[in-house]
Amino acid sequence: MLNFSFSNKTRIHFGTQQIAQVSNEIPLDAKVLITYGGGSIKSNGVYDQVISALSEHTVFEFSGIEPNPSYETSMKAVALIKQENIDYILAVGGGSVIDASKFIAAAALFDGEPWDILAKKATVEAAIPLGAVLTLPATGSESNGGAVVSKLATQDKLAFMSAHVLPQFAVLDPSVMNSLPPRQLSNGIVDAFIHTIEQYLTYDVNGKLQDRFAEGILLTLIEEGPKLFTDQKTDDVNGNVMWSATQALNGLIGSGVPQDWATHMIGHEITATYKLDHAQTLAIVLPRMMWEMRETKEGKLLQYASRVWGINEGDTETRIKAAIEKTEQFFHSVQMKTRFSDYQLGEEVVDVIVGHLERHGMTHLGEKQLVTLEHSRNILAASL
Ligand code: NZQ
Ligand code: ZN
Repeated sequence: MLNFSFSNKTRIHFGTQQIAQVSNEIPLDAKVLITYGGGSIKSNGVYDQVISALSEHTVFEFSGIEPNPSYETSMKAVALIKQENIDYILAVGGGSVIDASKFIAAAALFDGEPWDILAKKATVEAAIPLGAVLTLPATGSESNGGAVVSKLATQDKLAFMSAHVLPQFAVLDPSVMNSLPPRQLSNGIVDAFIHTIEQYLTYDVNGKLQDRFAEGILLTLIEEGPKLFTDQKTDDVNGNVMWSATQALNGLIGSGVPQDWATHMIGHEITATYKLDHAQTLAIVLPRMMWEMRETKEGKLLQYASRVWGINEGDTETRIKAAIEKTEQFFHSVQMKTRFSDYQLGEEVVDVIVGHLERHGMTHLGEKQLVTLEHSRNILAASL
């Protein structure tokens, strides 16, 4: 196992009616900015619960944070924070609202041009404290220090990490998932699945517990994910998916093991250019990434085939092929498509995305930096 230091200070309040906990989590004398997206929280009752929990607090609102949140929108919230001396942010939404809120929290206290936090990896020295009410289980953003923000003007979609933007608390109420449209349920299951894969399907360092945690998350998503599209959907099923998504990217399963993230880096470029949802891009790239990098990932691919899919027969290549097929079938079973052509995109994407990867210095990706532009080109071309 590799050396690691691990801490995750986000306090989780899991279960129905837990939004009320917001009231105790945020200091009564705080000036609170509630940040949210396009308004789903107003029609599903989440907004009312938040407002009721904050009835004794001084509250401001900032709405209109878009999916794949933009720098441009975020900076409007920064201006409001400065104008009103706001000192606490409550993000109510999915990964986009939480990510934007993290950037806003850091940008409001940043000395200089905040885009440098993303573009130049400028260090975040401080951030306004924030909490999260999660409405879409997918990204793990509710209890990690990462955020992804796009600059519309230049079509850049970039990530930053800072312990300062780790949410102080997060409310995970599985019943909020009942208003999610099927497309967002698909996105959530697939994003959580691929977060797990990116920290598991690398090379063996004898991190036995991390491997088994990861396999547990994958197996839970495989068992529970498809139920979300049937009448077997209950709060327990919602809860199992929600907790899996949080655990997939709260730092635990990735501690002490190599991490890949090549699929994500290529996926971000696809979203920035063609506006596909984040998880849609991952489901296109991952199966071909597994095949293209099968030699360097061979040991873990065979372990994945055996422990997750029960594939133990046949030679190495046969077992790897079967595991990739099972993975793709699983994506289809949760109503996720896996080809560019499913989104009316053709071979033009290959040169464009390779060009963006090059421009962003993404020329050696993956756990061993072996995913060169040539590999990325092969992966994209095979995914049409
Ligand atoms: O805007 P609203 O009205 O809230 O509607 C949203 C949005 O249209 C809707 N929605 C959310 N909860 C709902 C709901 N609709 C009905 N009922 C509910 N309970 O769903 C739509 C998509 O929301 P979004 O937040 O964009 O989805 P997701 O959580 O998948 O977040 C995606 C973003 O997170 C980034 C992605 O790149 C993308 O920008 N990621 C963040 C990561 C992190 N911070 O660690 C890691 C990920 O790999 C990912 O890159
Ligand atoms: Zn993701």
